[in-house]
Amino acid sequence: MSDPLELLRARYGAAHVPGSASRYAPEAINPVLETLLAHRSVRGFRSDALPGGTLELLIAAAQSAPSSSNLQTFSVVSLEEPERKARVATLAADQNFIREAPLFLAWLVDLSRLQHIASAAGVTAEGLEYLDTFLMGAIDAALAAQNVVTAAESLGLGTVYVGALRNRPLEVARELGLPKSVFPLFGLAVGRPDEARPASVKPRLSQALVLHREQYGTTPIDSGIESYDALIAEFNRSQNLPPARWTERTLERVRTASALRGRDELREQLVVQGFELK
Ligand SMILES: Cc1cc2nc3c(=O)[nH]c(=O)nc-3n(C[C@H](O)[C@H](O)[C@H](O)COP(=O)(O)O)c2cc1C
Repeated sequence: MSDPLELLRARYGAAHVPGSASRYAPEAINPVLETLLAHRSVRGFRSDALPGGTLELLIAAAQSAPSSSNLQTFSVVSLEEPERKARVATLAADQNFIREAPLFLAWLVDLSRLQHIASAAGVTAEGLEYLDTFLMGAIDAALAAQNVVTAAESLGLGTVYVGALRNRPLEVARELGLPKSVFPLFGLAVGRPDEARPASVKPRLSQALVLHREQYGTTPIDSGIESYDALIAEFNRSQNLPPARWTERTLERVRTASALRGRDELREQLVVQGFELK
């Protein structure tokens, strides 16, 4: 079992480990926490197929997540065929790890099942037309997918999410044969990490910036952000990446609508796919 302090140092940087170190006695850690704290996205996969039954086990973990009102408003399309995976990779910002990974999961908001049940019962399904119902499906899908991430990592596999699945969502919908009231939210590539291209734990903002006790805090955040910038620049350097600060990357990402790479049209695309978002 890993030393919890080491896991926390990797997550926050040695100078920003929250609370007194003595609270994190080695016996406080367990394999679940160890897996969670050691998470890192993997973008270099070996091509070997996953052991038989892995997909079904991962989906059982996904479906074990809580579900809003137990409506279970998500579905997932699993891709293993290299040609289809390659086409989806092209649609999702041409990220090569999608081609490499033996398994790619496309997570979907799926209101079509409830639509079907309502039609079969001859009743209206007005609730499905509202933004909140879409959000419910998106939250359910995210919770389910994150269970898959943790389950996969507990099996020694690696994963990376693919938000770029929303860059060209209508083309993705066509490729996956999605009916109306089903929309692609994000992807998840799953596979054995390639040891030759190892991934590292990426530090996060200090808890002082993220955790507010009782009410939202008014303490200035600038020095916390500055420390995090330095931490991320150092992390990038250690990964042989340009030593960009977090604020630089973040501002690039939010400065213009074009940085959304097509996702600025999401609302219209959702309407085309049958979501009214009232
Ligand atoms: C919803 C979502 C979408 C993401 N989309 C992408 C993506 O398209 N490409 C990519 O390389 N990483 C993607 N990521 C991974 C993030 O970049 C990564 O989680 C973040 O940098 C933190 O690194 P870590 O997961 O290694 O801790 C995505 C993560 C999430 C949660």
